[in-house]
Amino acid sequence: MGTHPSSLGEYSEGTMVDEVHFETTSVGPQFRYDFRVPNSSDLDEFIIENPVRDWSTLRWADIGRPFRVENMSDGRRAWEEQNGDTMPVKTSWEMFNRSFHEWFSKDVPKERSRVRHTLAKQIATFRWNKVSTLFEELTQLSIWNFAHRIQDSIWDPRGKRALFRGLDVEKPRILFLGAAEGYEAMQLSAMYPGGEAVLVDYDEFCKTHRYGQFPEDYPFLGHNLQTGGHRIWHKSQMNTQFIVDDIRNLPFGKEFDIVISVGLIEHFPDEFKPEAIDFHRRFLKPGGYAIMTTPKFHWKTRLFYHVMADAMNYTYRELMTVQQMGMYVFENGFNILRHGVIKSHNGLIAKPR
Ligand SMILES: C[S@@+](CC[C@H](N)C(=O)[O-])C[C@H]1O[C@@H](n2cnc3c(N)ncnc32)[C@H](O)[C@@H]1O
Repeated sequence: MGTHPSSLGEYSEGTMVDEVHFETTSVGPQFRYDFRVPNSSDLDEFIIENPVRDWSTLRWADIGRPFRVENMSDGRRAWEEQNGDTMPVKTSWEMFNRSFHEWFSKDVPKERSRVRHTLAKQIATFRWNKVSTLFEELTQLSIWNFAHRIQDSIWDPRGKRALFRGLDVEKPRILFLGAAEGYEAMQLSAMYPGGEAVLVDYDEFCKTHRYGQFPEDYPFLGHNLQTGGHRIWHKSQMNTQFIVDDIRNLPFGKEFDIVISVGLIEHFPDEFKPEAIDFHRRFLKPGGYAIMTTPKFHWKTRLFYHVMADAMNYTYRELMTVQQMGMYVFENGFNILRHGVIKSHNGLIAKPR
């Protein structure tokens, strides 16, 4: 990655030469480098706000219930057959994180050309049993390439910045529940620098690999405390600590300005949603913000979880509309300040009532 034109390799540490790239975006072998600075009004393009004016008037009967993703990965099915039991939730996260990390680590163009080359060889020698597996692999690589590398719809920095903008915080303490690679805490830290982000995940692999190996040259567009303008932040320039623990065990009081989760509450069936949502209130200072996102119910997300089932579907998962997500949060004692959809997720900002 060091040879990419926008990579940190070109910069001398501590300088702000990153700013010369501010109009550009380019696609690397694993992900998109996006240095484009939108005007504050352009940010509205990246979030479709979906106004529910009075959440107390909304009824479940009118908005329906979330869609459950039922087709589980072969990996989960094999584990359950071998163990004669349902996979424990934590094991399902451990398998998910290893699989997802492998996808983020792929040099996608190289992998696609390797699979295409092998496919051509197998077709030429009539090995049809191998052909269908390779075809499936190529379809997954194409979906991953488009969704993550080209469209940037998983990290979605422009959508996330549109969702996170305008918070009334200074040098905030941020708590990320179920942090995985910690992306959104880093994006928040870049936008609201000078504070501290505490990342929590009970899967040690997230600390060592997903966060531990997160690319240092990834550019987080954020705020320059010295000039008041923009600057690019990199992972090692941020004040973060990673705690490996269950979010049910955290020792904190009400001490955070922002508590965030990304793709967490849709993994809790309805009987556990109040507890999942309460984690976002428990550690918030008075006046603090809870930020939550969940994958949206849309044909594109359904297609993604269908084609990528073997890579992704280890855990209980729902796809929902932003109205359904907001209802859960409103019903569990929050006022909703902003809600809308970004590329692949619903997002909302809320405060405890
Ligand atoms: C679906 S991931 C969040 C999506 C994330 N953006 C990603 O890229 O994978 C949820 C994360 O929460 C963690 N998690 C789930 N339940 C947890 C718990 N009770 N305590 C701590 N971490 C938990 C999982 O290990 C997983 O890494």
